[in-house]
Amino acid sequence: MEDLLQQIDKERLPRHIAIIMDGNGRWAQEQGQDRLFGHFHGVESVRNIVEGCAELGVEYLTLYAFSTENWDRPEYEVNGLMELLVDTIRKETETLNRNNIKLHVIGDRRMLSEAVNAELNESLEMTAANTGLNLIMALSYSGRWELVNAVRNIAADVAAGKLEAGKVDQATLQQYLWTSHFPDPELMIRTSGEYRISNFLLFQLAYAELYFTNTRWPDFRKKHLYEAILDFQQRERRFGKTSAQISG
Ligand code: IPE
Ligand code: IPE
Ligand code: MG
Repeated sequence: MEDLLQQIDKERLPRHIAIIMDGNGRWAQEQGQDRLFGHFHGVESVRNIVEGCAELGVEYLTLYAFSTENWDRPEYEVNGLMELLVDTIRKETETLNRNNIKLHVIGDRRMLSEAVNAELNESLEMTAANTGLNLIMALSYSGRWELVNAVRNIAADVAAGKLEAGKVDQATLQQYLWTSHFPDPELMIRTSGEYRISNFLLFQLAYAELYFTNTRWPDFRKKHLYEAILDFQQRERRFGKTSAQISG
C-alpha cells in the first residue's frame, strides 16, 4: 500500500472525488447476513476513505449515502439506515473536528426525519469553522430533483425581477444547485461492479473521469482509493479537444 501511495503525484490530485458507495447488501448476503450488517460495515469504509482523502490533501469528497429512490426500499432497511446515520454522525463529529474536516449535506432534507435533521444540524454547526477536507454527504439525493429544484428557483427569481431569463447560462444554473460552493468532481468512483450513475450529480459529472471497481463498498479501503487515483492520473483529460492540443 505504501508503494501505491508513493506513486501518486501529489501535484495532480483530483480536487474533488465523488463516490457511489454500492454493494453493502450483496456483501452481507454473500456471508449469509442481513443487509443491515453490510451497511454497518460500510461505515468502517467511510471512516477509512475520509481519512485517506484528508491525509492526501483532497479538498472535496462527496459520498452518495442515500438516494431519493432508496426511500422505496423495505421500511426495515430504511429505518435501519437512518438509525445508523444518526448514530454515526453522533459518534464521528468529534473525529471530524480533530481532523479539521468540514461537513456539508446535499439532498432533499425535508424528506429526512426530525431526529436525523437535528443530528445533522449539530454536526454541521460544530464543523463549520474547519478548513481541511470538505466532506459532502448526499442524503435523500436525486440529481434530477436537484435540477428541477434549481429551475424552479431560477423561474421564481425571473418572475420576481431578480434575474433576466435571457441571461441564464451554465454558470447561473450551477449557482442554483445544492453544490454551488463546490468545484465539479474530477473523479467519480462506483464500487461493486455496477456501471451506472443512478441519479448522482447529473450536471456536475459532465466531465468527470469514471472509475468502476468490483470491490464491494464494505471491502473498499485506502489501497483501493489509491488505485483509483493512480488510474485517474494516467488518463488524458481532453475536454473535447485533441490529444495534440492537450500535450502541446
Ligand atoms: C449501497 O449498498 C448503500 C445504499 C444504497 C444505501 P446497497 O444497499 O445498494 O447494496 P447492494 O447494491 O444491494 O449490494
Ligand atoms: C446508488 O446505489 C445510491 C447509493 C449508493 C446511495 P443503489 O444501489 O441505490 O443504485 P441502483 O439501484 O443499483 O441503481
Ligand atoms: Mg446497490
